[in-house]
Amino acid sequence: MKKILITGVAGMIGSKLAEYILQQYPSYEVVGIDNLSGGYTENVPPQVQFHSLDLTTAPLDAVFKSGEIEYVYHLAAYAAEGLSPFIRCFNYQNNLVATANVVNACIKYNVKRLVFTSSMAVYGIGTPPFDELHVPNPVDPYGVAKYACEMDIQIAGEQHGLDWCIVRPHNVYGEHQNIWDKYRNVLGIWMYQKLNDQAFTVIGKGQQKRAFTYLGDCLEPLAQAAFSEKASRQTINLGSSTETSILEAAHILKEIIGGADIEFLPERHEVVNAYSTHEKARSLLGYVDQTQLRDGLVMMWEWAQKQPKRIRKEWETYELDKGMYGFWKN
Ligand SMILES: NC(=O)c1ccc[n+]([C@@H]2O[C@H](COP(=O)([O-])OP(=O)(O)OC[C@H]3O[C@@H](n4cnc5c(N)ncnc54)[C@H](O)[C@@H]3O)[C@@H](O)[C@H]2O)c1
Repeated sequence: MKKILITGVAGMIGSKLAEYILQQYPSYEVVGIDNLSGGYTENVPPQVQFHSLDLTTAPLDAVFKSGEIEYVYHLAAYAAEGLSPFIRCFNYQNNLVATANVVNACIKYNVKRLVFTSSMAVYGIGTPPFDELHVPNPVDPYGVAKYACEMDIQIAGEQHGLDWCIVRPHNVYGEHQNIWDKYRNVLGIWMYQKLNDQAFTVIGKGQQKRAFTYLGDCLEPLAQAAFSEKASRQTINLGSSTETSILEAAHILKEIIGGADIEFLPERHEVVNAYSTHEKARSLLGYVDQTQLRDGLVMMWEWAQKQPKRIRKEWETYELDKGMYGFWKN
């Protein structure tokens, strides 16, 4: 039977994409890889042939050698953008070296197409909305790693004929998000804080603008990133076109969950306004921006309230303490 491999299958996007492909494209079996550093086995659909592997070190021959893997979605990463300057080596190892390992296997085993989830972090500082022709200028090691991965994949395309599609999603939220990681994904952080009787934390004045994107709207476009001829060797922004300030988003969520205090934290090194254009996603992947932030948050909050009380993910030591923000200091 034809197979699709999803790395990061225990994470938010990977697990929901696995579910979606199993339901909508039943001619494919799904094979999954994850080291469970940021995802949970409970997220992985039972039909997935699951390999608990770390992509930074594991040889992947055992997963690929049957030759049945047609498409690979490489989603595994540690996407804590703001933390990445303090875990630099880890960031490059986990995001860039791991990708090189996947690229090698895709070339060696003649995979039909590699779909890579890059990030809008590659754009860095500039004037949004960013279109795909905007020259990347990342401002942190996470963005640098994602951009380096993109370039490496394109080189594999030129030199070894690997077909690829690079998707740049942004601010994706929804069910299966890791709400226990204190370093990333503001909406999930707020839900954790509400569930633990804490105030919402907002960095700076909360005027930063982001285009929050409901995960459910991204699943068919991600499927098409592998299947559609039009997506071959294309780099495509993926996400909502409606930008919202962080403070506005906090107020929308406050209303849904029945109130919360807001604690303002000092500013940090980050891009103030980050949103992009989506014409390519619409025309090449059939993306439809259909779920309003309020509706998506209602669904995510319903899910979040049913989650077990997990221990919050915190780094015991950072590679660098110099310049570390007070709110993350150990
Ligand atoms: N969520 C977003 O807003 C967003 C935006 C832009 C890009 N992306 C990208 O999309 C992808 C998926 O994001 P997500 O939000 O589902 O993240 P996630 O953290 O929920 O999932 C990532 C998964 O990768 C696994 N993983 C990490 N390092 C690994 C390794 N070395 N070996 C094997 N598995 C490993 C983790 O355990 C986790 O289950 C990532 O590449 C991320 O950079 C996400």
